[in-house]
Amino acid sequence: GAPVEVDVGKLAPGEMMTVEWRGKPVWVLRRTPEMLEALAKAEPNLSDPGSEKQQQPEYAKNQHRSIKPEFLVAVGICTHLGCSPSEKFKPGAEAGMSADWPGGFLCPCHGSMFDLAGRVYKSMPAPDNLEIPPHKYLADTTILVG
Ligand code: FES
Repeated sequence: GAPVEVDVGKLAPGEMMTVEWRGKPVWVLRRTPEMLEALAKAEPNLSDPGSEKQQQPEYAKNQHRSIKPEFLVAVGICTHLGCSPSEKFKPGAEAGMSADWPGGFLCPCHGSMFDLAGRVYKSMPAPDNLEIPPHKYLADTTILVG
């Protein structure tokens, strides 16, 4: 599949968009400072907080799993059986979620939870963090995925 150019300039902080790359949904989430803070808070409860299993390019092997901390670029496919986790990433209590969950992604199929860097929580059906696709910046707010 051809690389896909994504203009993320119009994304407001906290907003997410989905583009298609090689037939897969790729999310771009513009994280707020609060969302970035939640990454550190989530770490004690994550299965692979340092992303040692290398489900991302080397340049995205960091706490935010991205090139620029603000922008998460991730393949929106659950590493369990391939469902698409929900885009309900807002912190706060929702049905079936604990009130102290800092926010993230929730897979509707078997309940796997991921933080706002796509890192899977402990004891979830999904074995791995979400995949970060190869990507780079062509300009300040233009990303090339693939
Ligand atoms: Fe996501 Fe099973 S497919 S938890």
